[in-house]
Amino acid sequence: MAQRKMLLEYADNPEARSLEGWKRLGGYAQVESILKTRTPDSIMEEVKSSGLRGRGGAGFPCGLKWSFLDRKSDKPRYLVCNGDESEPGTFKDRHIMERLPHQLIEGMIVSSFAIGSKHSYIYVRGEYMYILRILEKAIDEAYAAGYLGKNIFGSGWDFDLSVHPGAGAYICGEETALLEGLEGRRGNPRIKPPFPAVSGLYGCPTIVNNVETIAAVPYIIAMGGDAYAGIGVKPSTGTKLISASGHIRKPGVYEIELGKVSCEEFLHSEDYCGGPSNGRPFKAVIAGGSSVPVLPLDLFVKTAAGVPRMMSYESLAEGGFVSGTSLGSGGLFVMDDSTCMVRNLWNLARFYRHESCGQCSPCREGTAWMEKLLERLEAGEGKLTDIDLLVEISKKIEGNTICPLGDAAAWPVASHIRHFRHEFEHHVRFPEKIRDPKHNVAAPIPRPS
Ligand SMILES: Cc1cc2nc3c(=O)[nH]c(=O)nc-3n(C[C@H](O)[C@H](O)[C@H](O)COP(=O)(O)O)c2cc1C
Ligand code: SF4
Repeated sequence: MAQRKMLLEYADNPEARSLEGWKRLGGYAQVESILKTRTPDSIMEEVKSSGLRGRGGAGFPCGLKWSFLDRKSDKPRYLVCNGDESEPGTFKDRHIMERLPHQLIEGMIVSSFAIGSKHSYIYVRGEYMYILRILEKAIDEAYAAGYLGKNIFGSGWDFDLSVHPGAGAYICGEETALLEGLEGRRGNPRIKPPFPAVSGLYGCPTIVNNVETIAAVPYIIAMGGDAYAGIGVKPSTGTKLISASGHIRKPGVYEIELGKVSCEEFLHSEDYCGGPSNGRPFKAVIAGGSSVPVLPLDLFVKTAAGVPRMMSYESLAEGGFVSGTSLGSGGLFVMDDSTCMVRNLWNLARFYRHESCGQCSPCREGTAWMEKLLERLEAGEGKLTDIDLLVEISKKIEGNTICPLGDAAAWPVASHIRHFRHEFEHHVRFPEKIRDPKHNVAAPIPRPS
């Protein structure tokens, strides 16, 4: 099935980058009538009935999250848009912020109106400084045109929107670390509960949503929640952006109708990845950003029961973390048979060790141990017992930390070893080959049948 373009319909159209151009393309058309004729509750109901799931990674239903807001509190409410996007392999929010800034601003206006926020924030990844400028310019345009500011369109609703730069730390994408950063402190995750919906920014009820989630809201209101729920396959409704990279002919950001494209098709169709970049067979796929379990090709395209997998939350999760994975943030990377899975995991482990904020011992110490063990194995200096030790450490981290970064560091370890143990053993059994500079460490190592 060809791409279903909704969010990205105008991504390649330079008109979409200015307010006037966005309006010519139909943007902002419904904002005035929403503010004058709709109630916040009715917008919230549409989002609930749409089945929209958060696109930041966990896939939590957006309308349900909004309904958790502490409505009895007389404190201000905040909407914070998470544009931190630092998960390796994920680069789809950048596409929206860079090319469709007014689509996101429109989403922020409508969503903030629904949850009753009078001041909302877009938190932008530190390395995306040029995007911060794009958003600032677009926000200035929206103020000048009366879409932001006091008493918008005479509705009686005042609304301010600010952008805030991150400082370049992956952990600041975790929602409570992000809130710490917004408040001007080091981005250390908070212990939950309380969840942000009860006590978030400045101790006030706060919703944190991903860029793609917010950008989908105006489309839901325009077509109606039930119509949106008709796109995709329930409970994976709507479209999803997938950022595809690795050994594929056509890396890029693609929009799919959830559950309507098979994983096989996604890898090979000219509408998407376009097959291998250098003619070598694919070996493994990480489907949803670096944190989700890696799958060997055969388990990515078909479940353990032989059912073809589809690109949806449910289908990719089939088999749990033993033979399945997660759609996560949609950061899909594909590895061909020249990839050394030990080196790949070492690379990921280095990242998580570097990004651990250090608050909890299992994550701080465990990520460092895993990195050291993997460095040793990769160099051909490891022991067979190191392999089980790695799994043991990953189990000790999983579920025992303040925030999910610990799990995110543990899952790739467990899954790489579960599916590619023979490669780890190869590094131990044939150290002379691994150390030989002429030996291609990435040469395909046959899986035992
Ligand atoms: C280490 C870590 C990094 C994260 N990075 C991001 C990110 O860059 N963008 C994002 O939207 N969510 C990220 N999340 C998830 C957020 O905590 C939060 O669940 C999400 O922003 C909620 O938005 P959604 O409900 O629209 O998906 C991260 C979580 C963790 C644990
Ligand atoms: S799990 Fe890691 S990143 Fe998260 S709070 Fe603990 S030490 Fe920090």
